[in-house]
Amino acid sequence: MKITLSIIKADVGSIGGHIRPSDEMLKAVEQHIKTKGKDKGLIIDYYIGYTGDDISILTTHKKGVGNSTIHKLCYEAFLKATKVAKEQGLYGAGQDLLVEAFSGNVKGMGPQVAEMEIEERPAEPFLMFMADKTEPGAFNLPLYLSFADPMHCAGLLLSPKLKKGFKFVIMDVNYTQADRIIELVTPEEIYDIAVLLRDTGRFVVESIWSRVTGEQIVAASTTRLHNIAGKYVGKDDPVMLVRTQKDFPATGEILSPFTIGHLVAGFMRGSHNGPLMPVRKNSPTSFFDGPPIVSCLAFSVKNGKLTKPADCFDHPYWDYVRNKIAQKAEEIRKQGFVGPAMLPMSELEYTGVTETLKELEKKFKIRKK
Ligand code: F6R
Ligand code: MG
Ligand code: MG
Repeated sequence: MKITLSIIKADVGSIGGHIRPSDEMLKAVEQHIKTKGKDKGLIIDYYIGYTGDDISILTTHKKGVGNSTIHKLCYEAFLKATKVAKEQGLYGAGQDLLVEAFSGNVKGMGPQVAEMEIEERPAEPFLMFMADKTEPGAFNLPLYLSFADPMHCAGLLLSPKLKKGFKFVIMDVNYTQADRIIELVTPEEIYDIAVLLRDTGRFVVESIWSRVTGEQIVAASTTRLHNIAGKYVGKDDPVMLVRTQKDFPATGEILSPFTIGHLVAGFMRGSHNGPLMPVRKNSPTSFFDGPPIVSCLAFSVKNGKLTKPADCFDHPYWDYVRNKIAQKAEEIRKQGFVGPAMLPMSELEYTGVTETLKELEKKFKIRKK
């Protein structure tokens, strides 16, 4: 059976700063998706959860990707949550909804989107990633390692099908007039892929496809809000769907790179580097408005009907990883605003530094010889 998996995610307000949405907001989203979506037969199933201050709506349906009915359903759910956030006096109510009225597709309207239409396999396991206090490029390194490096994906050596490699579709997110993409394949072009993926602020993995079966395995969100809005509206906390097992990397091979806690852009005021910490589902943010966090839920799906999720980072192993990553976060925080701790000028999400520099420019003098 052909079904579509869609995640649409937005920050529409949170308790006590940028910490987490309220239960009442989540209830409003759920109520809308259930009554206007599932009960009316628009969608087959849904799951609603949060990571940090972002609410994610996962739906299964038969309408394909970029479908305006599905996007409208989710956009309106976020409008309802915004209304609740305003009533409760929550912070940043409606922050990610850049336009009042919905028009066609949420892409470019603020929320993050990751969708793929698939032919369901007899057993269809997939993972749903949600990250907060970071940007879409945060998934570049984990995806490269899971799909192109046998240090993390043992299947590249052990499974003849995985050895045939994958096609990466990578987007230049600085180009905003249209989608500017490049397609590169593993293993032949891994160094070209690496050259692009090192630049996480500009080049972002949009999707990954099997070269053996032609199937789509990964769909990741690529929207950069500040490129659309032209001003600070928060980092673009990304979401991602990854199908696993059999002809694709195993669930554990997809999780493996998250042991690194690699440094990503985001953290306080979307303007610092910090290590990406894997957390349990429905985790809030905390230290220095961070650290950047990522959750991962594993689902199985049959005829579009979802199981309850299994929480991939809820395991003693990841407690150990979290401890190490907390130390890494503490280390980089020790150097505050200097060097790699704070992002380069082009990536700062607030104007304070540039405005100060403009003033200081006037005070500089050239010393006479
Ligand atoms: C990061 C984030 C926060 C805010 C910070 C200041 O994504 O949202 O770190 O940037 O809390 O927020 P404002 O400027 O809204 O007071
Ligand atoms: Mg926020
Ligand atoms: Mg967020």
